[in-house]
Amino acid sequence: MTIAHAPGKVILFGEHAVVYGRPAIAVPVSEVQAQVHAEPGEPGQGIVVDAPDLGQRVVVCDAAEENPLAAIVRLALVAMKRSLNLDLTVTVTSTIPIARGMGSGAAISTAIVRALAAHLNHWFSSRTISDLVYQTEVLYHGTPSGIDNTVIAFEKPVYFVKEEGWEVFWVGRPFLLAIADTGIGSSTREVVGDLRRRYEADPARYEPLFDRAGAIAVEARTAVEQGRPEALGQLMNENHQLLCDMGVSSQELDRLVIAAREGGALGAKLSGAGWGGNMIALVTEETRSRVDLMLRLAGATHVIVTEVK
Ligand code: PMV
Repeated sequence: MTIAHAPGKVILFGEHAVVYGRPAIAVPVSEVQAQVHAEPGEPGQGIVVDAPDLGQRVVVCDAAEENPLAAIVRLALVAMKRSLNLDLTVTVTSTIPIARGMGSGAAISTAIVRALAAHLNHWFSSRTISDLVYQTEVLYHGTPSGIDNTVIAFEKPVYFVKEEGWEVFWVGRPFLLAIADTGIGSSTREVVGDLRRRYEADPARYEPLFDRAGAIAVEARTAVEQGRPEALGQLMNENHQLLCDMGVSSQELDRLVIAAREGGALGAKLSGAGWGGNMIALVTEETRSRVDLMLRLAGATHVIVTEVK
């Protein structure tokens, strides 16, 4: 039996603007993980993907083309030049919350590719894994920017520009992020689609917002590299305001953002698609427990703290 993992992720800066070609920054979150076991199955069973956390059990040869679990298995086997005619049980478990902007779909796909490759003695580069996972992100999200598969397959902070490329970058001084869940699901496909309709009706309103969000991502990368948390906090606050202006925040997200700042966070913003899902706050060893408490009092259903390094 082989076991493989992949972390979750959060977007630090530039969500939505990244879909329109501006830079964004994302970081892996290793406190949450997708885990996949691959083991030989019963003769004649074919390839079965069992994902109890997702309430799914998929027989790959019978599954619809757009089923992402079956799709990533097919893509990985084709890339390994292996037949689909195998008897294999692939078991997926995950502690990454679903539909919260933490890359659960991309992490599950990444862990499946890693487990299949290990089981079949094949080596894939991180880039190949990222490319394979991107193809299933299309099934989950419609028009993904590609940031999730990149940060999760490489497991490093990533500076990303759609269709141009990405760079892994250094963290000058490790810092702590509190990640708080509104408890409300968020469909990336819906939020991205809604913003797209509003953008197409009035591009002149949104272009400057995207421009500024992109400029913030550039400044933020420098602040991370130089280890300047105060600057980073300011930029998070400004990016949150832009996301509000884009119409992708919500009362619940705004309430958590305000609570985190009142608790002493250096900055706070929604993270990911918005309307629900998670927000992030920049905290220190001194402020983390107070911010955690304030977030829970303001309605957060779940708070984790991760070190970005
Ligand atoms: O909620 P998430 O992590 O799936 O983030 C979506 C980020 C967007 O920029 C809104 C969309 C994308 O594909 O990058």
